[in-house]
Amino acid sequence: MKDAIRCSIFAKMPASILKNFHFMQINNFRSYRGITPQLGDAVYIHESAVLVGDIVLGDDVSVWPLVAARGDVNKITIGARSNIQDGTVLHVTRKSATNPDGYPLVIGADVTVGHKCMLHGCTLGDRILVGMGAIIMDGAIVEDDVFIGAGSLVPPNKTLKSGYLYVGNPVKQARVLKESEANFLKQSANNYVELKTEYLAAY
Ligand SMILES: CC(C)(COP(=O)(O)OP(=O)(O)OC[C@H]1O[C@@H](n2cnc3c(N)ncnc32)[C@H](O)[C@@H]1OP(=O)(O)O)[C@@H](O)C(=O)NCCC(=O)NCCS
Repeated sequence: MKDAIRCSIFAKMPASILKNFHFMQINNFRSYRGITPQLGDAVYIHESAVLVGDIVLGDDVSVWPLVAARGDVNKITIGARSNIQDGTVLHVTRKSATNPDGYPLVIGADVTVGHKCMLHGCTLGDRILVGMGAIIMDGAIVEDDVFIGAGSLVPPNKTLKSGYLYVGNPVKQARVLKESEANFLKQSANNYVELKTEYLAAY
């Protein structure tokens, strides 16, 4: 419960108001097998997002409405300043005899995950934009500085190389990123850090 109270949306509320949110806290921020999501500093989590189990969020991460993140059968890590936008689903694959590590979900720093994406057991580096509605499957690796077009599907175990735009279902390398696009990867993360700071200040 201590970590839930550190959760951004509740951090600045007076106790008299906070007590009314007790039910919501318990339900949107849950332990699984004794492991509770861990938050860095100045994290923003919308009250309709649901976070369960083994999840570690870096500083200044933002998690927007209706995100479902379930770190139950493996771990989810989200690096500093990354944003997970509305309606996105984050999940993992369990360890097994044939796959001893399973597939955790690792998201690096300064990553933008657009609206309604599905990230499952994949590994993303830093400064990546995952376009709206994209799906990234188990074992896929997205290197640093990649732009993934809206609606793309990244198949299992595929690697997306640094410095490129990828689009399509299944995803294909479209072209080298323009300088403006490469710069936007970090800018997008910065924009969301500013936005969540504004939201935090409003509570
Ligand atoms: C891919 C993207 C970056 C545009 O790249 P672009 O090179 O400027 O593309 P253009 O608009 O010039 O279109 C080039 C071609 O790609 C196609 N295209 C554009 N976006 C596409 C996408 N997401 N998937 C598949 N094809 C796409 C266009 O239809 C066009 O096809 P054509 O040559 O047959 O007519 C952009 O469409 C996109 O998907 N941005 C993601 C935005 C987003 O989701 N942001 C997160 C929310 S905050």
